Amino acid sequence: MGMKPLVAGNWKMNGLTAALAEIDRMAAGFDAALAGRIDLMVCPPATLLAALAARATGTGIAVGGQDCHAAASGAHTGDIAAEMIADAGGTAVIVGHSERRSDHGETDAVVKAKAEAALRAGLTAIVCIGETRAEREAGRTLEVVGGQLAGSLPDGAHAGNLVVAYEPVWAIGTGLTPTPADVAEVHGFLRGRLVALLGAEGSNVRILYGGSVKPSNAAELMAVPDVNGALVGGASLKAADFLGIAAAY
Ligand code: G3H
Repeated sequence: MGMKPLVAGNWKMNGLTAALAEIDRMAAGFDAALAGRIDLMVCPPATLLAALAARATGTGIAVGGQDCHAAASGAHTGDIAAEMIADAGGTAVIVGHSERRSDHGETDAVVKAKAEAALRAGLTAIVCIGETRAEREAGRTLEVVGGQLAGSLPDGAHAGNLVVAYEPVWAIGTGLTPTPADVAEVHGFLRGRLVALLGAEGSNVRILYGGSVKPSNAAELMAVPDVNGALVGGASLKAADFLGIAAAY
């Protein structure tokens, strides 16, 4: 596979000002050899976005947002626009994370509109999809992720502005992970769907795996065909763990 893997950290609602120093530790370990093999990104809470982006300048580490509104501006108290993420120095934004889908009732249509906002602002959209435990146990995994993918993909997507993250909801923050064979089945299916939806471009879109990735299981998960990187939650908060995952490549 010729594409460069992306290891993205989603800090979720963790990190006060003191956490900014973690980017220095990450940068110290992100040497030329590692930077040659992978792309590294940190998605902090919105309060830290601008400061983290400033601190990451020149390190090769990209910075992204965790969510955006579909509109560019307006009366939307508490929300931030994709344009604001770009203005703060971000180059990407996560949309459709399962915690947004469950905590805020975000539908595929909402996620698609947010992803299109990301593209409008010149950001890469990291579109998250994934089945619940009940859906997996009912044998509906491929049907669910296929539906989410088709419903959430932004118009105008191509390999340069779209990343897909497969995150089984039951694996997020639980320490549980699917078997490599299960990951291979889903990622292979998603690759086929991306090619069907985007044509040849679909074969170059990075598909990340997310859900309890840590240094001890990263090599096994990242070796699966069509796994083009990781979306990391808890283990992205500390430089040693995050770099340990990146080094799995
Ligand atoms: O966005 C990241 C995922 O939700 C994974 O979180 O690594 O803490 O399981 P986790």
